[in-house]
Amino acid sequence: MELRHLFVISILWQLSAACMNKCTCSPDSRGRNSVICKEGGYVGPLNLEGIDRNTEVLIISAPENNMNSLTMVPAFTELGRLEEIHITRSNIPQLGDRFFHALGNLSVLNLSQNNITQVIDRNFIGLVKLKELFLDDNSIVSLPSGTFSALKELRVLSIQRNRINELVHSVFLHVKQLRVVKLSGNPLRELHIEAFRDVRELRSLECRGCALTDMNKQIHPSLSHLNHLDLGDNHLRYIEKEDFQNLRSLKYLKLDGNKLTHLKEYTFSHLSELRKLNLAKNAITSVSVSAVENVNNLTELDLSYNQIVALKSNVFDSIVENLLILNLNGNPIDLSLMKFLLKKLKLRELRLRQCGIFVINENVFSSTLISLDLSKNYLTALDGNVLPDSLYYLDLSYNKFKGIANADLLDTIENINVTLLEGNPWSCDLCFIVPMINRVNRSAIFRNIICSQPYVVEGKKLESLDRNQLSWCTSGAYTTGANFFSITEHSSIGIIAAGMSVCLLFFILLSVFGMICYSKRHAAKYYTHEDKLANTQDSIFENQSPLFCDDRELSFKFPLDANVNEKKVAIATIDEIKKEHKIMNIVQIEGV
Ligand SMILES: *[C@@H]1O[C@H](CO)[C@@H](O)[C@H](O)[C@H]1NC(C)=O
Ligand SMILES: *[C@@H]1O[C@H](CO)[C@@H](O)[C@H](O)[C@H]1NC(C)=O
Ligand SMILES: *[C@@H]1O[C@H](CO)[C@@H](O)[C@H](O)[C@H]1NC(C)=O
Ligand SMILES: *[C@@H]1O[C@H](CO)[C@@H](O)[C@H](O)[C@H]1NC(C)=O
Ligand SMILES: *[C@@H]1O[C@H](CO)[C@@H](O)[C@H](O)[C@H]1NC(C)=O
Ligand SMILES: *[C@@H]1O[C@H](CO)[C@@H](O)[C@H](O)[C@H]1NC(C)=O
Repeated sequence: MELRHLFVISILWQLSAACMNKCTCSPDSRGRNSVICKEGGYVGPLNLEGIDRNTEVLIISAPENNMNSLTMVPAFTELGRLEEIHITRSNIPQLGDRFFHALGNLSVLNLSQNNITQVIDRNFIGLVKLKELFLDDNSIVSLPSGTFSALKELRVLSIQRNRINELVHSVFLHVKQLRVVKLSGNPLRELHIEAFRDVRELRSLECRGCALTDMNKQIHPSLSHLNHLDLGDNHLRYIEKEDFQNLRSLKYLKLDGNKLTHLKEYTFSHLSELRKLNLAKNAITSVSVSAVENVNNLTELDLSYNQIVALKSNVFDSIVENLLILNLNGNPIDLSLMKFLLKKLKLRELRLRQCGIFVINENVFSSTLISLDLSKNYLTALDGNVLPDSLYYLDLSYNKFKGIANADLLDTIENINVTLLEGNPWSCDLCFIVPMINRVNRSAIFRNIICSQPYVVEGKKLESLDRNQLSWCTSGAYTTGANFFSITEHSSIGIIAAGMSVCLLFFILLSVFGMICYSKRHAAKYYTHEDKLANTQDSIFENQSPLFCDDRELSFKFPLDANVNEKKVAIATIDEIKKEHKIMNIVQIEGV
């Protein structure tokens, strides 16, 4: 039998003087003799003929497109000095009885990404020093009681993404040293209380994506040392305070990606050591005032991607002193309802990405804040003094800024260590960009702004633009551009705006006048060809549009009513503008 194998394999793995064929042999980073075979394409029983008996690390793997197809044989009898074995991507279907029994020095066994369907206790006999066992990405369907009982020193057990659908009684029998168990990606549905009876030293338990529906209050009575619990991406709808009552050492708890809607009173109040709590991606709308009572060590709370509009102002009272990081990304937050809470907390980091925020009118932020994420909202303007002075990181990317006119904000941006401004519809024209282009030479942050309109400068960096060739306001300035007028109020380019108003008026008058003349000659057409007329009118102004400020809405209104009462129309239209945007010198036109 042995001899025949040798023949088959020697074709595949030709021996060479120093090393097996297609492998590399050299000391690893810790100076251990290692043999690494990663070319792939090996087929047949595992053959280690020719391998140096002093080998301490053996790695057999394969590239994605050239997987091995190995079967396991007792090939390790002479290799008692092995400390690590990694045989991965090799499509191994099963492990034999006692195949590893000679490996008394082995501390790491990695058999991930194979096709193992079953493991039993006899597979692991002899691995008396094994500390880490990895069986991820196989097809294991069940783990009988006592599967790992030969592994007295085992600390880390990882069996993620297999097909285990039940954790049986005493599955971890005799593995008393076990510290870390990773079971994510198995359809367990439940974590049985008896399964964890034997692993009192457990520090970390992960079961993400295990289809868990219920916490099962009694799960962890012996897990008093557990400090990391990850139950994310399950189907948990409710959690009760009893669920965590025994987890007195828990420091990190992840419950993200579940179906929680409400956090009840005292839910986490047994977790006095908890540091980080992740509740992202649930459907939470409300948090009881006492939900985190006594969780005095909590520094980081992630409530992102829930459905929170506002939280009560006293909801975090018991942890005000310690909470440093609050993540509210992806919630439909109403800042005006949250302001008392946000002011009160002594946060260092606040994340409000994608919260549907249109405007921030007042300083709702605590003065301890150093990092603020407001990206992916709908902000068109922001007052510099709503931001705390303590900031060193500000993310305003992917908002609706066409320009920033507010000098306070520009100063703040210049002084903060990191500000992100990309992804805004920067409108590089005289309406919006002048105060920023003025600072291009002072600060890289403005230099690197990329224009998104008008068309001629789209994609260009602000630093590459010539100030003297900026165009007048790009379309949309009047319909959506509240910024334009905040410029007139707050900054030195009011003069430009005033000039523009004059230009606007001039062309309105010109157009009205033109319309009157035109309508006298073609009066009949106006009533029958309104559409066409609108187009004609449009094209009349097109040539001058940079000066006319491209305001199509205005030009459309004249022809329709022009010969009914041109004066009234002109006033009405300008009044609308006035109402919206507070043009100062509008009075002039009312006297026309
Ligand atoms: C473990 O390695 C040492 C040398 O490092 C060796 O003397 C000993 O025999 C090995 N143990 C086994 C069980 O092979
Ligand atoms: C085990 O092998 C897999 C597949 O090659 C690899 O991704 C993983 O990092 C290995 N685990 C350890 C602890 O080396
Ligand atoms: C894995 O093993 C099963 C039977 O145990 C077999 O049907 C399947 O083809 C194997 N997968 C691969 C990729 O060989
Ligand atoms: C955790 O909170 C308790 C009680 O508030 C406190 O005595 C302890 O020092 C805190 N631990 C840490 C690490 O902050
Ligand atoms: C921010 O910049 C200031 C000086 O510009 C520096 O003293 C400070 O350490 C920086 N902070 C961070 C967190 O980088
Ligand atoms: C920036 O500096 C360059 C050359 O130093 C100069 O040509 C340009 O006018 C300056 N831009 C502004 C906005 O001051």
